[in-house]
Amino acid sequence: MISPKTLLRGRTLSFSAEPTGPEDSAAYDYREDGALLIENGLITAAGEFDTLRADAPDAKVVDHRPHLLMAGFIDTHIHFPQTQVIASWGAQLLDWLNTYTFPEESRYADPALAEAMATRFLDQLTAHGTTTAVAYCSVHAASAEAYFAEAARRNMRMIGGKVMMDRNAPEALRDTPQSSYDDTKALIARWHGKSRAHYAITPRFAITSTPAQMEMAQALVAENPDCYVQTHLSENDAEIALTAELYPDARDYLDVYETYGLLHDKALLGHSIHLSPREIDRLAETDARPVFCPTSNLFLGSGLFDDAGLRARGLTNAIATDVGGGTSYSMLQTLAEGYKILQLQGQKLHPLRAFHWITRGNAVALGLQDRIGTLAPGSEADIVVLNARATEAMALRMERAQTLSEELFVLQMMGDDRAIDSVYVAGVDTRDQASATEIAISA
Ligand code: GUN
Ligand code: ZN
Repeated sequence: MISPKTLLRGRTLSFSAEPTGPEDSAAYDYREDGALLIENGLITAAGEFDTLRADAPDAKVVDHRPHLLMAGFIDTHIHFPQTQVIASWGAQLLDWLNTYTFPEESRYADPALAEAMATRFLDQLTAHGTTTAVAYCSVHAASAEAYFAEAARRNMRMIGGKVMMDRNAPEALRDTPQSSYDDTKALIARWHGKSRAHYAITPRFAITSTPAQMEMAQALVAENPDCYVQTHLSENDAEIALTAELYPDARDYLDVYETYGLLHDKALLGHSIHLSPREIDRLAETDARPVFCPTSNLFLGSGLFDDAGLRARGLTNAIATDVGGGTSYSMLQTLAEGYKILQLQGQKLHPLRAFHWITRGNAVALGLQDRIGTLAPGSEADIVVLNARATEAMALRMERAQTLSEELFVLQMMGDDRAIDSVYVAGVDTRDQASATEIAISA
């Protein structure tokens, strides 16, 4: 069978490096009448529409003009079982976990509920333009199973893991050191490297793991060096104080994770807000990745992430929603709140760097920049189509926008799921995928 070819036409923007400033046009490729040739889920050519059309006269053309085609967004920290925790009122981290989050996560012991919610969770991600995410599942292996199975059905490149937690949580949410090891090992064997999945070994945070469980996490990391590790670090003052009580021998919060061998360039450390100079040194030496979660840090009143300070030390910062501490699935809204957090510290997030961050930048943080995060030939065809005039207010503002950077900044500050015109996952329009599923169900 001849493989069908699709040519997506539109304005195209793809980054090849992090822009050093608003004028750094060498860091990206922008075309007014661009095109992407898609074959077998990959981008096989990118360039001017006329040239690609002449080279592939048999390709089906999908015209997205005047919209903007970019690589799909990447969310590097999100909680799958918290879709119904977002917007829970009035608490900071530890009370929020105990009052809202842990009771909700208990429901994911039910595999049928986890399966139904995996569908709705991934629907939300793609509706908001996110084509790859790194997710915490609940403590139950069945929640990770449901998450990976649904991602595989949609052919999405997804990362995740079941949380390991054996103390300071309700009984229904506690595993044991041994069961957390066994379940994680089995999930890695079942999913890591299968379809487009990667496993993230996930000790939730120091407070919910005993030293015995941390030893099990250490063994898993040593046995599976190509898996990711994800956990939370220095988000909130009360959390840091309790961690110091629970690990009295640790020099600081990071030292808990360091002692158990969890730090390397595939370790994603959510929040990383209140850090000592020693912790920053060790983050730099181990090349672990801090993850900035702007909407969550504001919502839970956690603090201000020092992006410039960490970058100056050579760290690679990722950016993420942290739903349901975060208040939006939108990486555009995440950039908007990130911009404001940096403003409060006299730091700047210009739109070119912002859009690099949620595409190629997060791909670099995950070591996946050769597969996702750009529109370069050879990349997987995960693509978002953006409309900077999606709302009346945006269209009104766009009447006075003259440059690409101005358009991007309108999307960054005013955009959300309404600005997502279309999303392709591995070359398939997610709306076609949804209707194909409906047809299969009704048939
Ligand atoms: N620390 C430990 N668990 C969580 C969580 O679910 N959300 C946030 N924001 N921080 C955490
Ligand atoms: Zn989190």
